[in-house]
Amino acid sequence: MAANKSTLHRMLALEMARVTERAAVCSSFHVGRGDEKEADQAAVDAMRKELNVLDIDGTIVIGEGERDEAPMLYIGEKVGTGKGPKVDIALDPLEGTTLTAKAMPNAMTVLAAAAGGTLLNAPDTYMSKIAIGGGYPEGLVDLDATPAENIKALAKAKKVDVSQITACILDRPRHADLIRAVRETGARVQLITDGDVAGIIATTDPETGVDIYLGVGGAPEGVLAAAALRCIGGQMQSRLVTDSEDQKARALKMGIKDFNKKFELMEMASGDVIFAATGVTDGWLLDGIHQSRAGVTTHSIVMRSHTGTVRQVKSFYPDIEKFK
Ligand code: FBP
Repeated sequence: MAANKSTLHRMLALEMARVTERAAVCSSFHVGRGDEKEADQAAVDAMRKELNVLDIDGTIVIGEGERDEAPMLYIGEKVGTGKGPKVDIALDPLEGTTLTAKAMPNAMTVLAAAAGGTLLNAPDTYMSKIAIGGGYPEGLVDLDATPAENIKALAKAKKVDVSQITACILDRPRHADLIRAVRETGARVQLITDGDVAGIIATTDPETGVDIYLGVGGAPEGVLAAAALRCIGGQMQSRLVTDSEDQKARALKMGIKDFNKKFELMEMASGDVIFAATGVTDGWLLDGIHQSRAGVTTHSIVMRSHTGTVRQVKSFYPDIEKFK
């Protein structure tokens, strides 16, 4: 059965939050314990378990990697009971494994669902990204423009001085020139140690203080962030980084032949999409998992591109034992 907009959305929106919630609670047991792998595995196991009870004919298109490298939630893996609509699933069971292991902000569990064939099947390589929030003229910033051009254009559109613009960038040696170029414009740089899905979504929320996201991060994270922007509004462009033969081979395997292609937001997430995320640690978008003697509280966001609905979901589970 093919999914149409209403069946896909009605069935799945809150079910998706249930999946990210469970993954977040399970990985939260590993917050601050210094073990990225354990934290990730807990999220993977939980996400898979919850996905497999859903009445969907799901296929993982963005997952933990290729089959031979990832025992679970690998690209191509079937999830769900197989009885419902065909759905493509992009997921990052734990976005910010190091953030979780070190009890740092912005770790979250992330999932996007869309009708089959509408999410970019990105290889597990790097991706160059630029993103801004909603409400600006289309094409205001461009991946191929200089940081100074983009920041000046954004400041002009916001009717503020360049010094009032903040660019979020992953703190990596590869970004040294980019960081210097942004600072030279007079703009601020908000460095993040990990978690560029949150960094990109932050551009859509004035309270975060982030105006623009720039730099190179994971391609799977890029598609997930694009799915979120399709729902909440915003602009994004990207280009795969395929410097090595191995990276080119990975892209080819996903059907991407033009390695230099600049992807527009609508090419990364072209159909109607649902995006769900649950906080593991407190962050810009979401509160993390909070545990008390009474139980455990989760905070999720569920967004639908079809309607533009953004739901903030707070859930309380009295029995934490059921997650163990
Ligand atoms: P993990 O959760 O898999 O550790 O990824 C976190 C992350 O920071 C992403 O948000 C980002 O896209 C990517 O890693 C950047 O990769 P790298 O750490 O290699 O620069």
